[in-house]
Amino acid sequence: MENKKILEVKESLKKDLVEQVNEKELNDLKIKYLGKKGLITELNSEIKNVPNEEKKEFGMQVNLLRNEFNEYYESMSKKLEEAELNKRLENETIDISLPSTKIPMGSPHILEKLIEEVEEIFMSMGYDVVDGTEIEEDKYNFEMLNIPKGHPARDAQDTFYIEGDEILLRSQTSPVQVRTMLKGEGKTPIRMICPGKTYRRDNDDASHSHQFMQIEGLLVEKDISLSDLKGTMDILFKRLFGKEVETRFRPSYYQFTEPSIEVDVTCVVCHGKGCPACKRTGWVTVVGAGVVHPNVLRMSGYDPKEWSGFAFGFGAEHLAMMKYGIDDVRTFYNTDLREMPAFDREDEE
Ligand code: DAH
Repeated sequence: MENKKILEVKESLKKDLVEQVNEKELNDLKIKYLGKKGLITELNSEIKNVPNEEKKEFGMQVNLLRNEFNEYYESMSKKLEEAELNKRLENETIDISLPSTKIPMGSPHILEKLIEEVEEIFMSMGYDVVDGTEIEEDKYNFEMLNIPKGHPARDAQDTFYIEGDEILLRSQTSPVQVRTMLKGEGKTPIRMICPGKTYRRDNDDASHSHQFMQIEGLLVEKDISLSDLKGTMDILFKRLFGKEVETRFRPSYYQFTEPSIEVDVTCVVCHGKGCPACKRTGWVTVVGAGVVHPNVLRMSGYDPKEWSGFAFGFGAEHLAMMKYGIDDVRTFYNTDLREMPAFDREDEE
């Protein structure tokens, strides 16, 4: 004899499991049979009222009902999914003759563009473009540049140390001078520039960035003097900013050059007349440079009696800001293209 409750559910399933349902109806059925208070779920709690000898049979019957429902549910879900997909495919015909969405052409990052320009100017004068490393040793970043441990000049470059006091993120590209001279083994003349990232513990604002780009230069030959440096800087800035631009030298101090100088150029905004951009002086300081200190030559294996040279270093962002009229250094590191001045989009209509 089948249990009455089982029979009831069986009858009910017979009526309910129809061939045509929509999604909502199917879900309602699931709740009706397998929900918390679902008919099949309730049969489970009924089991305690069934006499012992019938329990096994009762359990099997409940399982059969559950399987029946589940099979129905799965096949119906599948049917509904297929129908849905077919409907979508029907509506989604693609008209390949429609004009496409226009994706703007990319263009080189403005900083990259400036660096490439500087590289080209120096390559035309016989310089190599070399690479250094961003993770640097204290030895190259400071000591072999004539800045021994404890020297106050180190404080000016608040450096990120990575491991102890030997491994750091380079605070300047000047260590590449040392690395290049070591490769030259005291025998080979050197003309190199090295553009690259540098790091200092600065708080970012309109004119400071904890990561910035320097371009370093080094020339080591025989009989080099300050006037060679002057000529080189003149060529660089006239080619970069225009023929009318003038340069001037002012005395300065760096440990790795003697004498040391700073290079000013006439303000590109007011052409030397004086404006807020140049603090009304008509001049803007752009480069630190000088004649390579004999100690630096010697430490890197070049005999200062035989060799002489000049070195220079400048901030790429600063030059790009002047050239493209950008007033916030953070612009370069912001990924928002709308803040980047449009330039040279020659590829676009
Ligand atoms: N490394 C210097 C700085 O970061 C810039 C500099 C000055 C580089 C004089 C040079 C140099 O090569 O000769 O402030």
